[in-house]
Amino acid sequence: MKIAILGAAGRMGRKLCELAPEAGLEVVARVDVAEGFDKEWPAGTEGVVDFSHHSALPPAIAKAAEQGIPYVIGTTGVTAEEQKTVDAAAKRIPVVQSGNYSLGVNLLLALVKRAATVLGPEYDIEITEMHHRHKKDAPSGTALMLAKSAAAGRGASNEFTYGRFGDTGERPRGEIAIHALRGGSVVGDHTVMFAGELERVELTHKAQDRAAFAAGALKALSWAKGKTPGIYTMQDVLALS
Ligand SMILES: NC(=O)c1ccc[n+]([C@@H]2O[C@H](COP(=O)([O-])OP(=O)(O)OC[C@H]3O[C@@H](n4cnc5c(N)ncnc54)[C@H](O)[C@@H]3O)[C@@H](O)[C@H]2O)c1
Repeated sequence: MKIAILGAAGRMGRKLCELAPEAGLEVVARVDVAEGFDKEWPAGTEGVVDFSHHSALPPAIAKAAEQGIPYVIGTTGVTAEEQKTVDAAAKRIPVVQSGNYSLGVNLLLALVKRAATVLGPEYDIEITEMHHRHKKDAPSGTALMLAKSAAAGRGASNEFTYGRFGDTGERPRGEIAIHALRGGSVVGDHTVMFAGELERVELTHKAQDRAAFAAGALKALSWAKGKTPGIYTMQDVLALS
C-alpha cells in the first residue's frame, strides 16, 4: 500500500516513516511544512496518516475524500469547526480518528469504563496527564477519551472540569476533572484516579516509546483499506468495542 505521512518531519512523523516498511507500507510522500519535505502527495497514493497540526487537517482530508483514499487522524486538538470537515469527508471515505493508537491505552479505556460503572458516583474521578514540554495542546486527546469512557461508565454527560484555581468551593458530586502537566521528555503518562471515602483506585498507563502510537496508526491504515465510508476508532481496529 502506497501511503503519505503528514507531519513527516515531526516526532511522530519520523517514527511513522521509520516503521512503515516493516508494516508492509511504502511511504511515497513525506509531507510537512518544514524545508526539504514534500508539499503534496502524488497521484496513486492509497492512504494517508496525519500526525501534523489540526489546522492542516481540513484541506488534507477534503483532498483525500475527493480521491477516495482512507485517512488516519492522529492529530489532536481538532476544533468543532474542523471536525465538521472530517465528518463530511467520512461520508465518502473510511476515516480512523483516535487520540491514542496504542494497544495499552485502548485497553485502559475499557477498564476505566468498567471501573466507573462498578464504583459509581461515590468515587471522585480525577484524571492527570503528563507530556513533554513541546506538546502544543492541552488536555491530551487521550485524557479526553479517558474522561469520556469514565462518563459513559457512569451514564453521565461529557462535561468536565479542566484544572482548578482560586476560590473553587467544595468539589461537586459527580465531577470529572482533568489536569495537564508538561515537562521534560515524557512521551505520555495518564492516570485515572477513583477517590472514595475509604480507598482509592488508580489506573495508570505510561508510554515508553512513540513507536507504540506509530505502529497502531499504521495498523489502522491497513485495516481501513476497503472499509465502507465512516468514522472508526482504534477500538474498532482492535475489535475492543
Ligand atoms: N493519536 C495519537 O496516538 C498521538 C500520539 C502522539 C501525538 N499525537 C498528536 O500528533 C500531533 C503531532 O505530534 P508530534 O509530537 O509529532 O508534533 P511535532 O510538532 O513534533 O510534529 C508536527 C509536524 O507537523 C508539521 N506541520 C505543521 N503544520 C503542518 C501543515 N500545515 N502541513 C504539514 N505539516 C505540518 C510540523 O512542521 C511538524 O513537523 C499532535 O497533535 C499530537 O498531539 C497523537
